[in-house]
Amino acid sequence: MDALTREQKNSFDENGVLILPDFFANEECDSLISRMAEIIDEANDTSSTVFSTTNRTHSQEDYFLTSGDKIRFFYEQQSKGSAPSELSLNKVGHALHDLDPVFSDFVRQKKVAELASDIGFVEPLLLQSMYIFKPPHIGGEVVWHTDHPFLWTDPPSVMGFWVALEDATIENGCLWCLPGLHKQNPKERFRRKDGGGTEMITLDNTDFPTEEKIPLEASKGTLVVLHGLLPHWSSANHSESSRHAFTLHMIEASAHYREDNWLQRSPDMPLKGFAI
Ligand code: FE2
Repeated sequence: MDALTREQKNSFDENGVLILPDFFANEECDSLISRMAEIIDEANDTSSTVFSTTNRTHSQEDYFLTSGDKIRFFYEQQSKGSAPSELSLNKVGHALHDLDPVFSDFVRQKKVAELASDIGFVEPLLLQSMYIFKPPHIGGEVVWHTDHPFLWTDPPSVMGFWVALEDATIENGCLWCLPGLHKQNPKERFRRKDGGGTEMITLDNTDFPTEEKIPLEASKGTLVVLHGLLPHWSSANHSESSRHAFTLHMIEASAHYREDNWLQRSPDMPLKGFAI
């Protein structure tokens, strides 16, 4: 059975974004929230790598560059040096879906696999997962970008599933996007440099027409499908409420995943699909 109607498929093709309210039950969201609380408690993590898209110093750090097949902790700029908690972390990533059974079960549900199939995947590989906290008062801005430049395949194939684990509103920093702009070529490319570190290469120095942005407010349980070339952004969270979200990025198995993408798996942990 298809997860999407013909109308929804056409809308996704046209806009590069699709909002599916109540795709997950509140209890399913709560299972990830409470599992993440346990992971934080168990972590005893001593790192203090800051994740900020406005200051990419974190990207030079080995902790980030080797996190593609691990569960690692990245802090908000303003909480550097703090203990890991839902009030200090920016995100946890990037292989929750393969390393943690609760997260694996969540993404490997039939309805999620069907959705991937409905948006065109033939043999999807689950590349990256992130638990995003956007804590009250200090949750940082995520600057305008598309996902393909960070997870580059030839041809482009990355798609993102963004799940609201809590209500995402304009006040607490919901996603915004530029519908239809996924039909444009990528403007940049983030890659590993020879000799270590990473770099952002500009392919097109024109700006996104951000004045056309629309908010993607999403109630708890909503799944937002984001095309890998759709420009999106979220503001800092200046509100009193957190904005927890979970994201999963998939690529097509037949597409060539570049060797200089930042996210790499070790040979003993190859990418998997929806089957366990
Ligand atoms: Fe993104």
